[in-house]
Amino acid sequence: MYVHSNIFVIDCLIYKAAIYSFKDSFFLIFKPLIFMTRLLTGTFLLLQLCCFTALKAQTTGPTGLKDYYGNYFPIGVAVSPMALKDPAQVSLILKQFNSLTPENAMKMGPIHPEENRYNWKDADSIVAFAQAHGLKVRGHNLCWHEQTPGWLFKDSNGSLVTKVVLLKRLKDHITTVVNRYKGKIYAWDVVNEAIADDSTQFLRNSLWYQVCGEDFIVKAFEYAHEADPNAVLFYNDYNTERPEKRERVYQLLKKLVDAKVPIYAVGIQAHWSIYEPDQKDLIETIRKFSSLGLKVQVSELDISIYPWEKNKRAMRPGESDAYTPELAKKQEDQYAEVFKIFREYKNVITGVTFWNISDKYTWLDTYPVPGRKNYPLLFDQNLQPKQAYYRVVDFK
Ligand code: GLA
Repeated sequence: MYVHSNIFVIDCLIYKAAIYSFKDSFFLIFKPLIFMTRLLTGTFLLLQLCCFTALKAQTTGPTGLKDYYGNYFPIGVAVSPMALKDPAQVSLILKQFNSLTPENAMKMGPIHPEENRYNWKDADSIVAFAQAHGLKVRGHNLCWHEQTPGWLFKDSNGSLVTKVVLLKRLKDHITTVVNRYKGKIYAWDVVNEAIADDSTQFLRNSLWYQVCGEDFIVKAFEYAHEADPNAVLFYNDYNTERPEKRERVYQLLKKLVDAKVPIYAVGIQAHWSIYEPDQKDLIETIRKFSSLGLKVQVSELDISIYPWEKNKRAMRPGESDAYTPELAKKQEDQYAEVFKIFREYKNVITGVTFWNISDKYTWLDTYPVPGRKNYPLLFDQNLQPKQAYYRVVDFK
């Protein structure tokens, strides 16, 4: 028994020694392997974390103009119902913009073609699209001398109507249209382009002016305010950076503000070019208009590659419409400059809207020179961002 137990102890010792030596050689061989495995797992986890963070940044970081300018102001675009049926343009709009302006659909001619008939189809479709996608809508416009319906200024004999009749028609129009979109349209261009082009005159000699004198402006604002007291009401005009026109627009705005007319903001259309405005004139316009307590929106922005011309004309022999790298560079610089100023004045600028989506279609292809291609926007003819786009989203 004693011998046996000794043998057992010896057995155990041998066994233990064997285990230890096995363990030693096991660790000797496998320790580096375990270390390698741990290293690889760690690297893998780290990589996963990096990918996740990058993906998160991609989905939550800026994806379009509206996101880059999220802390500044909404970025809008003028649209037609046709554009909202084209999937490529729709996806561009939804990625880049958070506000819409109907390009033509709400103008008096298209929306109110006969005295007792409204054509809601196009305007409704734009508002429904905006509602479905959570976009703001600027209404454009309620009273303008262009794109008016044939019946508006005439009586049944074809003579010019009286002031009483014209103001009644204006009131009916504004009340009906503003009411229809109450709560869906947050802002209206109430009066468009009432200042004369001729710098020696004050108000444009339109039929509105001929029949009603200055009163049509005041009345238009009052009717709009009555119909929707919450709507932000605008006076909207072009060439507002040119000192002589700026002064006349300012005089009109001041008159309205002093008379406590319900006007809250001014739209500077911003149909600009690579040649104008310069920084000083733009800043002076924003300062001067906002000094009246009015907010400012850039309501119809595009930057033409040609100098501004008012009158329509045919293309001249040999006139080029090539979009050269030099022109594109000038346009980039102009876009970068004006957006820098917009950002600096974000306390008074409450929106910037582009007039059309991309260079594929712009009203400037037919105005002032029909058939002369223009390239005034941030997206090219294939809806791709141009270099100017990257300058606009670069805040350095
Ligand atoms: C003006 C009007 C706009 C539009 C442009 C040109 O600026 O306010 O509605 O017609 O001209 O397209």
